[in-house]
Amino acid sequence: MHEPLPIDGRTIELTVVIPTFNEKDNVRLLVERLHKTLAGIAWEAIFVDDDSRDGTADVVRAIAQRDRQIRVIQRIGRRGLSSACVEGVLSSSSPYVAVMDADLQHDETILPAMLQRLKSDDLDIVVGSRYVEGGSTGAWDSRRVMISQFSVGLAQSLFKVGLKDPMSGFFMMRREAFDRSVRGLSQQGFKILFDLMASSPKPMTFAEIPFTFGLRQHGDSKLDAMVAWQFGVLILDKLFGRYLPVRFLMFALVGGTGILVHLAALYVLLALEAPFTVAQAGAVLISTTSNFFLDNIITYRDQKLRGWRLLRGLLIFYAVCAIGAIANVNIATTLYVEHTAWWSAGLAGAVIGVVWNYAASRLFIWSRGISG
Ligand code: GDD
Ligand code: MN
Repeated sequence: MHEPLPIDGRTIELTVVIPTFNEKDNVRLLVERLHKTLAGIAWEAIFVDDDSRDGTADVVRAIAQRDRQIRVIQRIGRRGLSSACVEGVLSSSSPYVAVMDADLQHDETILPAMLQRLKSDDLDIVVGSRYVEGGSTGAWDSRRVMISQFSVGLAQSLFKVGLKDPMSGFFMMRREAFDRSVRGLSQQGFKILFDLMASSPKPMTFAEIPFTFGLRQHGDSKLDAMVAWQFGVLILDKLFGRYLPVRFLMFALVGGTGILVHLAALYVLLALEAPFTVAQAGAVLISTTSNFFLDNIITYRDQKLRGWRLLRGLLIFYAVCAIGAIANVNIATTLYVEHTAWWSAGLAGAVIGVVWNYAASRLFIWSRGISG
């Protein structure tokens, strides 16, 4: 066993924030390794655990009982790597903060060099990078490498981040630089570093230090289709979030596909020799239904409805859209009668219809996370 550093009476210089979700078998070893590599630095580690079922928080608390350099923040009813990192940093008071994974895939032995570099070159941030000379993705399969490089390319071309590895989850920064970005963060999903860099009011000064992405020894990666979806939301938010909420944008895009579905259905029904009114009504039903299912798997992927809640949601969606359509037609007609040009009357009706559908379905169907 290590001897805890006598931090009393000394200010802590470095806080290492470690998000965890089901990592109970990794934390002890990680703490041991941090003690070894950070000997001589006044540091602390804050684990931010999203109420892992495997009892990760209990394991950290047991360590913290004997080791004052270790703390845990346990969040109940919340999920999210980015928001966990943000809360960890906000709970610390040291001038330098690092973020790293708990699963030993991030090589902790480069932490002292990161701190050194941050100070000596007076930088905002130093990133542990897989994509600079000397770094590597380790034993990743080609599919994962491809996905990673695609997202890196996308981030680099849309935003002037300049980093070789903006998707890294391993970095150290000055607290002031963090504070400059924090209010602009989307906090969506996994890509906290990218979010921080893209939200900085002035470009951050940075350096990258190579490391080799290690193998996960215990537990599973949480990276899945949801992470890709969240990355898409993050990109949309960074591009347009200033003007419109991302959800609304996605909802409106899905609505746009609804028009195409509507026309296609109308075409088919007419070809089947249905009377026009019947065909039009059928097309409305089909496009409304397809909108609902697309919203359920795209716009609200993070709160996808299943089973009877799906059916209930669909019925409410029909009701909501019916009211939206009535409002749409009435407003457009009123404007038209008052001599507004046909197209602006029509557009105004449509916009009000979409906004209503969005607001009402957010309130009555996909209402989780509505306050946050
Ligand atoms: N608190 C909290 N909440 N922690 C989480 C959550 C969550 O919802 N999801 C994951 N974590 C923790 C894990 O326990 C782990 O310590 C760390 O965040 C990274 O999760 P992994 O599931 O191991 O991610 P990965 O190895 O697939 O991805 C890593 O590499 C990516 C680079 O491709 C991460 O570092 C990513 O941030 C990075 O982009
Ligand atoms: Mn991992």
